[in-house]
Amino acid sequence: MTVLASALDPGGADYTAHREAMLAKLGELDAEHHKALAGGGEKYVARHRKRGKLLARERIELLLDPDTPFLELSPLAAWGSDYPVGASLVTGIGVISGVECVISANDPTVRGGASNPWTLKKSLRAHEIAHVNRLPVVSLVESGGADLPSQKEIFIPGGALFRDLTRLSAAGIPTVSVVFGNSTAGGAYVPGMSDHVIMVKERSKVFLGGPPLVKMATGEESDDESLGGAEMHARTSGLADYFATDEPDALRQARRVVARLNWRKAHPDPGPAEPPKYDADELLGIVPGDLKVPFDPREVIARIVDGSDFDEFKPRYGTSLTTGWASLHGYPLGILANAQGVLFSEESQKAAQFIQLANQRDIPLLFLHNTTGYMVGREYEQGGIIKHGAMMINAVSNSRVPHLSVLIGASYGAGHYGMCGRAYDPRFLFAWPSAKSAVMGPQQLAGVLSIVARQSAAAKGQPYDEEADAGLRAMVEQQIESESLPMFLSGRLYDDGVIDPRDTRTVLGLCLSAIHTAPVEGARGFGVFRM
Ligand code: COA
Repeated sequence: MTVLASALDPGGADYTAHREAMLAKLGELDAEHHKALAGGGEKYVARHRKRGKLLARERIELLLDPDTPFLELSPLAAWGSDYPVGASLVTGIGVISGVECVISANDPTVRGGASNPWTLKKSLRAHEIAHVNRLPVVSLVESGGADLPSQKEIFIPGGALFRDLTRLSAAGIPTVSVVFGNSTAGGAYVPGMSDHVIMVKERSKVFLGGPPLVKMATGEESDDESLGGAEMHARTSGLADYFATDEPDALRQARRVVARLNWRKAHPDPGPAEPPKYDADELLGIVPGDLKVPFDPREVIARIVDGSDFDEFKPRYGTSLTTGWASLHGYPLGILANAQGVLFSEESQKAAQFIQLANQRDIPLLFLHNTTGYMVGREYEQGGIIKHGAMMINAVSNSRVPHLSVLIGASYGAGHYGMCGRAYDPRFLFAWPSAKSAVMGPQQLAGVLSIVARQSAAAKGQPYDEEADAGLRAMVEQQIESESLPMFLSGRLYDDGVIDPRDTRTVLGLCLSAIHTAPVEGARGFGVFRM
């Protein structure tokens, strides 16, 4: 009875058009992901290999258990900035010796692996994920330290990197550093602050100042090996706990270190689960290319949850928001999904009640975004839309069960907040290529600006230039449109990645597994609900 029925017609014209629009966007996304995979490009990759070194992703592959998935995070970091896509760092979650860990690997083929402002944001996000989900951290280090031309953006906030490592340790979350090359100046504190340190013979260079700086500072003549080589740190300074003969040996030793952590998850793996009744491939044909056209989020839910089984809560009340209970890869889940775009008072109250229930039952929540925001207008203001929206935002803000957010369509205005947008700390937030997010739609925003400008001119008694207004509106519309697209937002680390809709169940399953490393407990109190 609770298995969702589907009205999707994979033979129909709408489905075909939606699928084609989605595939076109996925093609664009692939091209950008390839930029991240290419690292610093052929020249620097070839030079790196010639030095007998492994690439960042090859190091990760050797570190992980064979045939286990790696959930890469923020691969589009720095997109649209002056820095290469990927931000000279690879981060993600993978399984090492049976333990889910956060892995962070510098890409030394990109500007010597130096950290720019986006690298820093990406590293800090990886640490945050490790902290809240209690996942051990393995850092694969080889970096030129701070990207010197952008030092003003990173030097002061960058201290958080080392602070995080020691706070993770204080929280009982293990940290492991494997140093493959340069790790100097501030970078020396990555191994310096880690619980376990592995260094590679004749490769690791860990010192506060290299030979030229030492010469300048004290006049002392020195060399890399005596200042910070693996041999010296393993025998003399004691900074290296393990001495590796080469890179594969270092990764093998890292796997042994993790195997000996005695790390236990708070919640055991729930075991095999029933797959959805419908084909995941059909997720490509649900969201229309034009987000003004509504779609039924139950079609998405039916293709991601176990057995397509969904117990809907209050199905006849506040129907613009679908709420209900399901499980995903065996993990219980409460789902909130926008159905018709706008959030009214009823939807807001329904959401607040549902979120409280999930907290009472210790059930994680999934937010599927397709909202243009809370309803405006006299009737709705008089009906108390502000206080009802505030109830929903209160519930989301003070909820303590883990939240997952997926932007599948629109995510505009305070609706983005109420549906657990980035600032509301969902444990993970992903976007489909079809998503758009901004303070409001581009046309509405341009229209509002135009009305304000017109009123301002009238107040000053000045004539209004209609031609300039039309030009300005077009320009603003275009700017807001491009700034609301997933690649732009992902580049700024406002999500954890843009995913192929067909991978949604797998990605969320990996997230739920990672999340259950830490105890899942709901809030027992909320802020004062304004009734
Ligand atoms: N900031 C900005 N750019 C950097 C950089 C940094 N910290 N480190 C390296 N780069 C750039 C280089 O200028 C070079 O650019 P180019 O190819 O366009 O000329 C590119 O990255 C590769 O560097 P290169 O020196 O050729 O690579 P390498 O593998 O031989 O050496 C390092 C790598 C990291 C050992 C070396 O570049 C270095 O010592 N960098 C400075 C380290 C430092 O003192 N950082 C400050 C710490 S806070």
